[in-house]
Amino acid sequence: MCGIVGYIGDEEATGIIVEGLRRLEYRGYDSAGVAVVRDGKTTIRRAVGKLKNLDKVLLEQPVHGTLGIGHTRWATHGRPSEQNAHPHEVDGITVVHNGIIENYLQLRQNLVEQGRTFKSETDTEIMAHLVAVETNKGTDLITAVKKALAQVRGAYAFLIQSEKEPDKLITAKNASPIVIGYGEGRNYVASDIPALLEHTRKFCFLKDGQMAVITREGVKITTEDGEPVEAAIRVVDWSPVMAEKGGHKHFMHKEIFEQPSAIADTIRGRVRMEDAQVHLDGMSLGDVTKLNRLIIAACGTSYHAGLVGKFMIEGIARIPVEVDLAGEFRYRSPVIDEATGVLAISQSGETADTLAAIKEAKTLGATVFAVCNVIESSIARECMESGGVMYTHAGPEIGVASTKAFTTQLVALYLLAVYLGRARGTLEKARAQELLTHLREVPQQIERVLSQEAALITIARRYHKARDFLYLGRGPNYPIALEGALKLKEISYIHAEGYSAGEMKHGPIALIDEHLPTVGIATQGPFYEKTVSNLEEVKARDGKLIIIATEGDSKIAATADDVVLVPANDPLIDPILTVVPMQLIAYHIADLNGTDVDQPRNLAKSVTVE
Ligand code: F6R
Repeated sequence: MCGIVGYIGDEEATGIIVEGLRRLEYRGYDSAGVAVVRDGKTTIRRAVGKLKNLDKVLLEQPVHGTLGIGHTRWATHGRPSEQNAHPHEVDGITVVHNGIIENYLQLRQNLVEQGRTFKSETDTEIMAHLVAVETNKGTDLITAVKKALAQVRGAYAFLIQSEKEPDKLITAKNASPIVIGYGEGRNYVASDIPALLEHTRKFCFLKDGQMAVITREGVKITTEDGEPVEAAIRVVDWSPVMAEKGGHKHFMHKEIFEQPSAIADTIRGRVRMEDAQVHLDGMSLGDVTKLNRLIIAACGTSYHAGLVGKFMIEGIARIPVEVDLAGEFRYRSPVIDEATGVLAISQSGETADTLAAIKEAKTLGATVFAVCNVIESSIARECMESGGVMYTHAGPEIGVASTKAFTTQLVALYLLAVYLGRARGTLEKARAQELLTHLREVPQQIERVLSQEAALITIARRYHKARDFLYLGRGPNYPIALEGALKLKEISYIHAEGYSAGEMKHGPIALIDEHLPTVGIATQGPFYEKTVSNLEEVKARDGKLIIIATEGDSKIAATADDVVLVPANDPLIDPILTVVPMQLIAYHIADLNGTDVDQPRNLAKSVTVE
């Protein structure tokens, strides 16, 4: 996720901005830049890589001024490069942006037709052009920004300055965060509180659809239509470390709670409801009717996403899918030909086993493509020359245990399944519209699951001393049983096994006694009745049962010791909801046991050795 910092006051802006950006470094970024206005002129400095590279540029070519904006970029549109780094300047208007402009292709085409040329591949530069088109006609900056905002669709936090009106900064927000910091004779803007804690403790969080004009003397907040809004100023007493975690105790907890917005970002701009089409930017799969088989290769949590993806792609697009642990794939002499697609799933894009698997598949003639979270990572680069990359827009994941990366992978796989189904003619328009409507309900449904945290803490308290756990699920929720067990193991060090509920009677049932808690997934759908009878087998042997069921299921309480309810959705979307209580149970058990949740022993965020 990009970082934004802006300053208007009477001190040198550059130092304040770069220091603010440094405090946002934990969010991850690939390039950085700053733009300062002085004597009616904008000066920009940008550099690829870490902030020390920008420091070097600024040391060699310092910039001075008391009004400025800065940015650390996590690439979405356009690869990481100096040209694509923010700020972007057009005719004296400078813009930094966090988010994704959905209708950027259309807006860019309109601007090109008006004779405008672009210096970068970013969607952000469009905003600078849209504002400049207006200010060049003599329109004042505030009106010009409003007119530009009226044309833009998508997620954004914009920060804008103009060399013609150096007495103000303008910011506007929709779905990406912006916070305004209040000083004396100076004011600040940032994407996140840590950037400003050194200067002020007084903040106002802008809401979606609001904009603010920030001068040295004060801040005026309105809606994008100009309706005045009273600023809700909050005094924040967070320590810098707490602020980095947005007030959460651990990054993992923060990332679990970021899932609704991460999922919305992953869907954004990819769905065209009118004709039920999915737009896969960055993918070039060619004629998918020629694909007769898909192999998914991944590790760990991403492998579990692949197992759910198999249900989605086979169910919706009717293509046979095999899922391989990437570390096994190339040692089993896989049968591959040109009609085989090999899909790598990786959060980091750097997992050595997954990288090796797709290299092998490419050598054997397969089309390789990836679902990946990190732009320009090794796996992404490897796939670019072949079938391309579909990026999850989860933002940087810092907690070692994967949470938001997993649910956004599931969303990406569902979109991919709908795309393939439409392209291969296995999915009718009306059905596709239904599926996509269900997918769009997920962010809000996850909010509902997250609101049950107190009940999940009670469950965690009851069982955090257990030595072993069993996780059971069937169908698309069988991989969620595996994922629930993995989450618990890796952060709490409690032994846990995930099993297909139907397979339990073939062995693990011998483990069950009154000391073994079992987490079962028995949501409504084709597997409900069978799963419930499997869970009854646990109960009959005095096992303790925590059951994840669907809202409105009044019967399940008779089987379970504890019930967690998730909203009803399509059975193939259900795993995106059922995994959330799994994450929270694991998190709270680990927290109660005092383990290092964000950096569990022996684990690394990306495993770059085979
Ligand atoms: C578990 C976890 C790991 C990763 C695995 C693959 O919470 O994070 O199991 O999923 O190491 O990593 P990526 O997705 O980066 O390839």
